[in-house]
Amino acid sequence: MNVAILGTGYVGLSTGVCLSEIGHRVVCIDLDEQKINNLIQGISPIYEPGLENLLIKNIEVGRMEFTTSHRDGLKGAEIIIIAVGTPQKNDGAADLSYLEQAVKDISIHLEQSAIVVLKSTVPVGTNEYIKSILDDRCSKQAAIEIISNPEFLRQGSAIMDTMKADRIIIGYANREAANKVLEMYRPLNVPFLLTSIRSAEMIKYASNSFLATKISFINEVANLCEAVGADIKEVAEGMGKDKRIGEAFLRPGIGYGGSCFPKDVKALLHTADLHGVHFSLLKETIAINDLQQETLVRKAMNRFGDLKGKKIALLGLAFKPETDDMREAPSIKISRLLTNLGAEVVAYDPVAKDNARKILGDTITYSSSINEAVLNSDAVFIITEWKEIKYLDMAKLLKNMRHPIIFDGRNCLDEERVRACEALEYYPIGRPAILIGKK
Ligand code: UDX
Repeated sequence: MNVAILGTGYVGLSTGVCLSEIGHRVVCIDLDEQKINNLIQGISPIYEPGLENLLIKNIEVGRMEFTTSHRDGLKGAEIIIIAVGTPQKNDGAADLSYLEQAVKDISIHLEQSAIVVLKSTVPVGTNEYIKSILDDRCSKQAAIEIISNPEFLRQGSAIMDTMKADRIIIGYANREAANKVLEMYRPLNVPFLLTSIRSAEMIKYASNSFLATKISFINEVANLCEAVGADIKEVAEGMGKDKRIGEAFLRPGIGYGGSCFPKDVKALLHTADLHGVHFSLLKETIAINDLQQETLVRKAMNRFGDLKGKKIALLGLAFKPETDDMREAPSIKISRLLTNLGAEVVAYDPVAKDNARKILGDTITYSSSINEAVLNSDAVFIITEWKEIKYLDMAKLLKNMRHPIIFDGRNCLDEERVRACEALEYYPIGRPAILIGKK
């Protein structure tokens, strides 16, 4: 099939390479000339495991192309996938300006009939709104059908999540169009669900909000575990064994971040408010997350009394491992709190440093290795559970620190290795602290 994709962010690119890999001819369109020039040479604008390999492979076999021209890109497309961003506006609502621009570009340049597949996360009713604009504006020869096809891929495992999705949601009004989109996905051989367009739009927000709520819930249970002397590791494991609860997304930490959860929970709350539905649970999910992002700083304040002049090493900056994405990363709030309290912050991240610098500037120092970051530090904050951080050389780390104190925001250090240290104060989340050799 001939597929055109508008937007070359995580969703657009991952979808593009995967559709190309299963045999479709894919043209990706983006207005950013520099980005398109790089993509033509097989250079990905984002760090995403496996993406660049598939990109290069499919460009070489001639199944993937890139262009800044909508006229060229849309020529002959049977399916047009819209995967542009829908960031958050100040009032929590989704900003649809990129989407409106994409729809305008399609209406100006599309000459044939096609199916428009909307992957961007959009409030309920948006697909219908877009269909009405396209019906009004497109030339008489071009009949447009619209499919709501929300995306559930996670950064860091975007290719895997696309190739082996738990489900594909097809929200449709026209069954023939739905069948055609199903045919496009058929080689992936993954389960699918046909729904109304409005249900499909809702599934995306409800899924992300549910997962975010699950995280806020387990973070609150972790806080309670600390207060009553229980261990969240055991508690989460015990809860997760119940199939109705499930083991996933029960990892406590320093709160959720990223480009989806924070904005999608707020957008769903905004929709509920607009419709007079009192969805106060979502307000709590957000409030708990905001507080949870401060937990390591609170723990350090309790330990030191005052953080003025203390050197704190942040290990990890990205909102999660295997990505350079800093959007809504807890490290931003943590860095700002620490510097406001007069602490000196030195940070290390294997790939997110450049993006972090764009947000935090020179308010913190960036190191090129774990050992450089921890040198003469008073405490380490583990922010992102990158493999190299999880398996860091404990003896070397502790030797270089001024005080052997670790606040593990991800509970990612192995307990046995922690206990094997000669002197260490180890403060995990929702678990008893391990104090070795402390007078
Ligand atoms: C998420 C959704 O999972 C995906 O389906 C979607 O549509 C886009 O948003 P992503 O933001 O890439 O994906 O990352 P995810 O792995 O879901 O993690 C989100 C945040 O939650 C991260 O900050 C992560 O550290 C945190 N998290 C996740 C926890 O704190 N605990 C958990 O148990 C799981």
